[in-house]
Amino acid sequence: MNQSMQAWSRETYGAADGVTLQSIPVPTPGRGEVLLRVRATALNAGDVRLLLGDPLLVRPVYGLTRPKHPVRGMEVAGTVVALGPDVVGAELGEDVVGELVGGGGLGDYVSVPASRLVPIPPDIAPESAACLPVAGGTAWQALDLAGVGLAHAGTPRVLIIGASGGVGTFAVQLAALRGAEVWATCRARNAPLVERLGAVRTFDHRESPLADLPAGRFDAIVDIAGGMPLRELKRLVAPGGTVVLVTGDGGHVLGPIPRMLRAVFLSIGSRSIRPLAATPRPEVLAKLLELVADGRVVPVVEREYPFSEAATALSRIAAGHAVGKLVVTGSGS
Ligand SMILES: NC(=O)c1ccc[n+]([C@@H]2O[C@H](COP(=O)([O-])OP(=O)(O)OC[C@H]3O[C@@H](n4cnc5c(N)ncnc54)[C@H](OP(=O)(O)O)[C@@H]3O)[C@@H](O)[C@H]2O)c1
Repeated sequence: MNQSMQAWSRETYGAADGVTLQSIPVPTPGRGEVLLRVRATALNAGDVRLLLGDPLLVRPVYGLTRPKHPVRGMEVAGTVVALGPDVVGAELGEDVVGELVGGGGLGDYVSVPASRLVPIPPDIAPESAACLPVAGGTAWQALDLAGVGLAHAGTPRVLIIGASGGVGTFAVQLAALRGAEVWATCRARNAPLVERLGAVRTFDHRESPLADLPAGRFDAIVDIAGGMPLRELKRLVAPGGTVVLVTGDGGHVLGPIPRMLRAVFLSIGSRSIRPLAATPRPEVLAKLLELVADGRVVPVVEREYPFSEAATALSRIAAGHAVGKLVVTGSGS
């Protein structure tokens, strides 16, 4: 194997258009890690935040003055091409998918702990599998936190705010699969898609303010978009209901922290507001792969970009309004 590889990288914090194709060393898998030849990487809103180092709060962890991990891409599907010491449960030549906590998917190769990877069933394309770890996993964990399909008797009514994006398109499908009556907010042009995914009612957030809805309308709300006052969200859930905050939106310094603290304060009483910090969950990823293999969940992909156009894909996600996921195919695909 060549000792160097191509990767889209940015050595300093800044905008997506500053990401360039560079030659860097092929990583050596450490203890318990495997080396993957990347076949597909799906992008996330979080990639843009980490490119910018925004909010400043993330920098002590991700690099104080420059990114510790200059190659973005957190969701990867690839083929195992080398094993580090003490690897259990992964085989050479196997196609796998998983979450890269530090990024690295926008390179020819990436090293990743084997414990975080799940085999891809033969009928699922790597471009579809790559959409699942962060976006599908976050939607799943948000619905768990809201108790959808777990805590409600009958048919819970669930509101998904921000339904047309990467996390939202999974949240709508999974909530419907869990037996919920799904209401959703998205731009009018995306309403047909969101309804096909399982929503029974859609609102354009710019034309039909949720503040106009009567109080106590929902058993659970999953807020993926942000921007709505917490008291308004709380007003919309029924007693015993839960609002889950997924969005990472907030100020440049502390990001979502002040909103999370207000959520704790406002959760006194019978309606709770719970911020989500999704984590890599291979067991959830395995269930999502089963649902995709059965055709019960369909990853929505706005566009697949060849590896040579990865910087364009990052700029596209930074511009906002992407519908579903953006996928960059690996250089060897
Ligand atoms: N808590 C966690 O652990 C966790 C994990 C993953 C992601 N996140 C966060 O979740 C958020 C969404 O991530 P993503 O990857 O799904 O981003 P995305 O693909 O960019 O989707 C965001 C969606 O929100 C919609 N939107 C924006 N403002 C809206 C509003 N006022 N009402 C309704 N919809 C609105 C956008 O549609 P239009 O712009 O077309 O209207 C878009 O569909 C990000 O803030 C990300 O940082 C958090």
